[in-house]
Amino acid sequence: MTSCSQNTRTIVITGGAGFIGSHVVRRFVHRYPHYRIINLDKLTYAGNLENLKDVEKEPNYQFVRGDICELDMLRNLFEKEKVDGVIHLAAESHVDRSIRDPFVFAQTNVLGTLSLLQAAREYWGNNEGPCERRFHHVSTDEVYGALGMGDEAFCETTRYNPHSPYSASKASSDHFVRAYHDTYGLPTVITNCSNNYGPYQFPEKLIPLCIHNICEGLPIPIYGKGENIRDWLHVEDHAAAIDEVFHRGKDGESYNIGGINEWKNIDVVRLLIRYVDECLGRPVGTSDNLITFIKDRAGHDLRYAIDAEKLRLELGWSPVHTFETGLRETVQWYLSHDEWVQHVTSGSYESYYASMYGNS
Ligand code: NAD
Ligand code: DAU
Repeated sequence: MTSCSQNTRTIVITGGAGFIGSHVVRRFVHRYPHYRIINLDKLTYAGNLENLKDVEKEPNYQFVRGDICELDMLRNLFEKEKVDGVIHLAAESHVDRSIRDPFVFAQTNVLGTLSLLQAAREYWGNNEGPCERRFHHVSTDEVYGALGMGDEAFCETTRYNPHSPYSASKASSDHFVRAYHDTYGLPTVITNCSNNYGPYQFPEKLIPLCIHNICEGLPIPIYGKGENIRDWLHVEDHAAAIDEVFHRGKDGESYNIGGINEWKNIDVVRLLIRYVDECLGRPVGTSDNLITFIKDRAGHDLRYAIDAEKLRLELGWSPVHTFETGLRETVQWYLSHDEWVQHVTSGSYESYYASMYGNS
C-alpha cells in the first residue's frame, strides 16, 4: 500500500457524515490532496453534513447520498468512480437503539457490509487498477464481549463473544469481511476500536449527553451504579490509527485500537460536571445533584479494555491526546457549538439536508 500513496486514488468513505467518519474524511481530504475522497452516506438521524462544512468545497471531496444496502447503486458507484479503496464506517452505532430495534442493525451493519464487500469484489475482480486495492472495515471492541475486573485486555486473538444486538451485528460483519478475504482474496483489514469521544458526537452517547444535560440543568441518567468501565480514546487518535492501518496494515489482519485509558462511568461523569461547571463559571459542585442512577441497560457489558500493542509495535501508532486535556477541549467545543447541538437535538438538520439531497 505504501508504494501507492503518492498516486491518485479514489477512496469511498462510508458513514462520512457521522461522528468518526467526519473526522476520517477531514483527515484524508487535508492530508492526501492527491486522493479523491467520496463520502457515501445515507444521512440517517446520525449523519449530518454540518460536520463537514469546512471541507465541502475542497476539490478532492465529493458527497454521495446513498444506502450501503443497495447493491446496484454500489456497483454503479464502483464502476463510475473507479474506486480503489474503501474505508467502511457506515453503521447503526448506538447500543440502546439496538436493544429497542435490532432489525435495522442487522440490515445496515450485516447486509450493508456484505453488499459493500460484494461490490468491491466484483469491481476489483474484473478491473485492473493503477493502485493496490484495500477494503478497511471499521469495527468495535464490543465484539469481544465483556471483561471482568481482573481480566487481561482484549487482544486480536480474543474470542468473539458479543452480547448486544449492536455488537452481534458488528461481529457478524467482521466475520463476513474475513470470509471475503479468505474465500475470494479480497484485500481487507479490520480495526476494532474502543469508545471514542470528541467533537461532533451525537448527543445520545454518554459524553455529549452529559455535557448537554449539565449545561441545561437536566438529570444525568447513569445506568446501574455507574461502575461499568470503558476505555476512552480521542476521535482524532482513532482517525490517525485508521490512516496508518489503511496505508500500512497487512491484508487479512485485524488491529485493535484503544486508549489504555479505562474509566468508570461515574468518574467520567464527575469529571464532566467539574469541567462544564468550571467553563460556565458556576461554583464547584453546582451540578452534582443532577446525577441520577437509573435502571441498568439490558445485557450491560461490565468492562472493555484494549491491548493495542500490535498496532504500536507493527505500525508505530499510539494515542497523542491525554484524556483530561481531550475531555476539557471537548467540553469547550460543545459549549462553543451551541447551534450544532441545537440542530442535532431538534433534528432540524435532517429536513434541511433532505431538501438538498432528497429523501432516499
Ligand atoms: P455514527 O452513528 O455517528 O455515524 C454513522 C454514520 O453512518 C451516519 O453518518 C449515518 O448516516 C451513516 N449510515 C447509517 N446507515 C447507513 C446506510 N445504510 N448507508 C449509508 N450510510 C449509513 O457512528 P460513529 O460513532 O461515528 O461510528 C462509526 C463506525 O465506527 C461504526 O461502524 C461503529 O460501529 C464504529 N465504532 C464506533 C465507536 C464509537 O465509540 N463511536 C468505537 C468503535 C467503533
Ligand atoms: O466500545 C466501542 C463502542 O462504544 C462503539 O462500538 C459504539 O458504537 C459506541 O456507541 C460506544 O458504545 P457504548 O455503549 O459503550 O457507549 P455509550 O456512550 O452509549 O455508553 C457508554 C457507557 O455509559 C456505557 O457503559 C453505558 C453508559 N451510559 C450510557 C448512556 C447513553 C449511561 O450510564 N447512561 C446513558 O445515558
